[in-house]
Amino acid sequence: MIEEDRMKMIMDHYENPRNFGPLKSPTVTLKGGNPNCGDEINIYIRLEAENVIEDISFDGKGCTISQATTSVLTEFLKGKTVGQLSELNSDYIKEFLGKDIMITRPKCSRLALETLKSWVRTDFEKGKTA
Ligand code: FES
Repeated sequence: MIEEDRMKMIMDHYENPRNFGPLKSPTVTLKGGNPNCGDEINIYIRLEAENVIEDISFDGKGCTISQATTSVLTEFLKGKTVGQLSELNSDYIKEFLGKDIMITRPKCSRLALETLKSWVRTDFEKGKTA
């Protein structure tokens, strides 16, 4: 992807975040943050049968990279299963942000994905949903 197009796409997700704002009745609410800068995200998920992510949204405050990445992840994950989420790796983020941003801003780049994966590892796989 041409870098100029990539930056436009990142800025568009930051300025017009997709799936922004809390869900009415989430099954799960996750909190993530970067203690070094104070940036925060909340991710809301509504699961349906077969562990399908029927709906997902987020809110929070933070840098362009963390917020744009959270936005694009919510778009990607809507309709996917928790199993598909657990198989998701940072390649998807790298494709969106590009390698240079991934390297220079690792915590910002991975905030949303780490928040989601941490939930899968620590709560979901142990049978808790909230
Ligand atoms: Fe805080 Fe990016 S500067 S998450």
